[in-house]
Amino acid sequence: MAEKFDSFWQIDQSANIITRKQNRAYDLDVLRQSITLSFLKNHCPNQLNGQSTVWVIGDGFASMTSLLLANKFVKRVVLVNLTKTLLVDLYYLRLWLGEKKFDKIVRLYSSEEGNDEILIDNNSEEFEVIAIQASNYKLLENLKADLVINIASMQEMNPEFTSNYFGEIRKAADKNEVYFYCCNREEKILPDGTVSRFLDYPWLPFDKLIVDELCPWHQKYYEFSIPLYKNYDGPTQHRLAKMTNN
Ligand SMILES: C[S@@+](CC[C@H](N)C(=O)[O-])C[C@H]1O[C@@H](n2cnc3c(N)ncnc32)[C@H](O)[C@@H]1O
Repeated sequence: MAEKFDSFWQIDQSANIITRKQNRAYDLDVLRQSITLSFLKNHCPNQLNGQSTVWVIGDGFASMTSLLLANKFVKRVVLVNLTKTLLVDLYYLRLWLGEKKFDKIVRLYSSEEGNDEILIDNNSEEFEVIAIQASNYKLLENLKADLVINIASMQEMNPEFTSNYFGEIRKAADKNEVYFYCCNREEKILPDGTVSRFLDYPWLPFDKLIVDELCPWHQKYYEFSIPLYKNYDGPTQHRLAKMTNN
């Protein structure tokens, strides 16, 4: 699947190095991120030109964040996650970066502390990773975005949270062009019975769809037992869209 994406082999190698440093397996969850990033590098190279800011909403083990940094595709990553998962993301990021570099380039941006330095240095190279707790999602409005990535994460949120993130993406699109890569289950019933539907996310008619299809590398997973490849619980759609502002 990744053969047609030129940057895959480089990204694949970096994933190998990152996971080794973190003492964890280069498993399917990481491989999905590697393939996705090489797909994005093909489809929106200007958003991954080393100068951009990318929001990663709902990363896991900071896999996408690390790949973006390791391949020098971005100037800054804004990493948003639920508090406990964010802590895990940051822990694994530190395992890869080392304590010294982590302390130098990663900042938690929280409303309680003000964190004015982040606002002042919005365009500086110093803080390459800005971490934000999901409960503080409104802080996103202070940060620019060129590309936003959400993989298998909005499918876990109640629609109001998805709408909140769409709202922040559209505010960012007021300032400059924003691409959104959204890869989530077509439909999922959440534990409280709420149904989350990809097509019901607050897309707008003028969002320009660049890719819109079932995600080829997100339909089946592998296990080391026969028949090896099995379908996920339902189809997963991926969409790369140039987002309109409100
Ligand atoms: C199934 S994991 C997917 C992780 C990774 N993106 C992947 O593709 O494997 C779902 C992720 O969404 C995050 N998440 C759930 N609700 C969220 C919210 N309201 N805001 C941000 N992240 C959220 C979870 O903490 C978790 O990191």
